[in-house]
Formats: sequence, C-alpha cells, structure tokens
Amino acid sequence: QTKCVLTGFWINELGSNMTINSVNSQGEFSGLYHTAVTATKNEIKISPLQGSQHHKNKPNQPTFGFTVNWSFSDSTTVFTGQCFVDEDGKEILRTTWLLRQEVDDLKDDWKATSIGSNVFTRFL
Ligand code: BTN
Repeated sequence: QTKCVLTGFWINELGSNMTINSVNSQGEFSGLYHTAVTATKNEIKISPLQGSQHHKNKPNQPTFGFTVNWSFSDSTTVFTGQCFVDEDGKEILRTTWLLRQEVDDLKDDWKATSIGSNVFTRFL
C-alpha cells in the first residue's frame, strides 16, 4: 500500500480514538473524536471534528489539518499533520496540536495555549 488514506478509525498513543468520514473532492472531511484524557474535570463526551487535507496534487502522503470543538469543555484543539505509509505498509498520522483553553481574563492569556504531538495508527 503506497497511498495513505485519512478515512477510517484511528487511535493514538494516549488511547484517544477518532473516526474520519469520507474526504470530499475539495479535500474536506468531518468526523468524531473520543479523547482518552482531558485538562478539565468534566465528563468526557465524543466531540465533532472538521478538517481538510491537501488534494491539489493528489499526494500519496497528504498533509491535513482538523479542528476539534470539544462538546464537554470550552476549549478548542487544532491538529495539523501528515499521513504516512511506513516501511511495513502501515498508515500513520504524525500530528502536532494546539489546545486553547478559555480564560476569564486577558491577563491569563499567556497560559491558555498548550502544544503537543500525537501519532495515530489505524484501528481495526
Ligand atoms: C479539554 O480537556 O478541554 C478537551 C480535551 C482535550 C484533549 C487533548 S487534545 C490534544 C491531546 N490529544 C488527545 O487525544 N487528547 C488531548
């Protein structure tokens, strides 16, 4: 397998999983994200995601980005990354994320954004 396809069911090293629906001709997609962890004390709920992948040159290992609008917190996460096919022919998503938390005061803005990375592998 040489082409990396975003559509499907993915799990990352935290145990979070997501379903990405079909990618349309514009490269746009939607999906659902079930995080294994939260920065809040709220009960985790499955949250919607919206994204797009590069499609103009129909790359085999496309770059993409998506936003998760958390349904159980006031935060927003954006992920950007690339879909790779590794040496064993396994697809992986290498991503970097920014998590923005809501703060009540402009003075707290400095501490409201965190950054990290996640690697997703295809599940099932
Ligand atoms: C929140 O805590 O307000 C929402 C959940 C945030 C979960 C983060 S997003 C980046 C990282 N990767 C995951 O799979 N979960 C955490």
